[in-house]
Amino acid sequence: MSEAYPPVSEHLDDVETARAEGRRKMDWALQHMPILQALRETYEAEKPFAGHVIGMAMHVEAKTANLVELLALGGAEVAITGCNPLSTHNDVSAALDANDNITSYAVRGVDSDEYYDAIEAVIAHEPTITVDDGMDMVAAIHESHPELIDTIIGGAEETTTGVHRLRAMDRDGELKYPVFAVNDTPMKRLFDNIHGTGESSLATIAMTTNLSYAGKTVVVAGYGYCGKGVAKKAAGQNAHVVVTEVDPRRALEAHMEGYEVLPMADAAEIGDVFITTTGNRDVITREHFEVMKDGVLLANAGHFDVEINLDQLDDLAANVYEARDGVMAYEMADGRDLNVLAEGRLVNLASPIALGHPVEVMDQSFGVQAVVVEELVENAEKYDAGVHEVPDELDRRVAEIKLEAEGIDFDALSEAQADYLGSWDHGT
Ligand code: NAI
Repeated sequence: MSEAYPPVSEHLDDVETARAEGRRKMDWALQHMPILQALRETYEAEKPFAGHVIGMAMHVEAKTANLVELLALGGAEVAITGCNPLSTHNDVSAALDANDNITSYAVRGVDSDEYYDAIEAVIAHEPTITVDDGMDMVAAIHESHPELIDTIIGGAEETTTGVHRLRAMDRDGELKYPVFAVNDTPMKRLFDNIHGTGESSLATIAMTTNLSYAGKTVVVAGYGYCGKGVAKKAAGQNAHVVVTEVDPRRALEAHMEGYEVLPMADAAEIGDVFITTTGNRDVITREHFEVMKDGVLLANAGHFDVEINLDQLDDLAANVYEARDGVMAYEMADGRDLNVLAEGRLVNLASPIALGHPVEVMDQSFGVQAVVVEELVENAEKYDAGVHEVPDELDRRVAEIKLEAEGIDFDALSEAQADYLGSWDHGT
């Protein structure tokens, strides 16, 4: 790593303009984030994070920035970088970096070395808490800075792929501090993964290509939380939806939902738009490219850029050209064009026009992130090294804040009902 990888402000020509624009984006988002607003009031008054350094690797855009600022207003020093080379909004990153107790190293379009240098720069702040989206920060600390582990009280992980990686690390006995699986809470997964990924992926593809879904065959690879959202919303835009799966129950679920379920080998021949949401690698490969129709769109909404095998596509291509901003056309020897969006990186965050999930769902996900950091600060000693479920009462607290902000009242269990649900000695 270069000795001191500079914060974003040193990468930009016109920092003042960038900061002002970034701040405008953050203000807009915050207006629609009632959960973070409510937490702001409490944290600003109580400063629960005073004395802590929070190291973050997340998609640096307006919604995340409001989480970062919330943690800083709560008394933390925060250092942040991106969790994907293409998802950073430089103006937002610059606006964050203008805060005294926030340093942002996130810059859009960095190469692999710079990406990891920026993670190292965050780690140089010696975090006591980590907040990740994809687990790159936790991995770098364990691999290269194990000496920090003793002073790290815990971490939080935002996404499915990060939680999978952490669980694998935990199984191998290699995860040395507690990390909360924020992804797995109802308040995150049932809204962010389903509605957020569904809406923002489809919207980004449509805006990037200026094409319609109506009458098209949209192939959704993976019928997990994200796939369900993409499939449902594509069907809602009059597409014929085909689902591919490897889990028999999820394949059956998709079938019972009314979608056509096919192996990718068959789906490849009939699809017009392909959207991968598996968190797995090599979901669309050479054999599929060979039979695809001319003009297909290929997009990935899973965390890493390994779902569509671009090396194989590149091998097959006679010519590659930029068809539009954010669209690379791979021209086959037989003249077919296969169009890849956002370099196969998660389309709703890495496309040039991408804005990520709608603000409302990120308010929920980041509300959970914030209360989890609070839990670590207050009760870290309760949690051993390893992956932990977020305590249900914290998730409920976030839901209640949101319902109150929306003016939605709901019922409560009576004592008799609670007793009834908690007892085993009643029957017919
Ligand atoms: P999930 O585990 O609920 O669903 C993944 C599904 O893909 C499973 O049903 C699995 O059986 C299936 N699958 C695995 N390999 C497959 C293959 N080769 N072919 C077909 N299906 C296959 O996970 P979730 O929550 O839906 O997340 C999926 C990915 O999306 C993860 O990488 C996650 O990190 C990412 N994600 C992306 C977001 C975005 O903004 N684009 C937001 C949230 C999650």
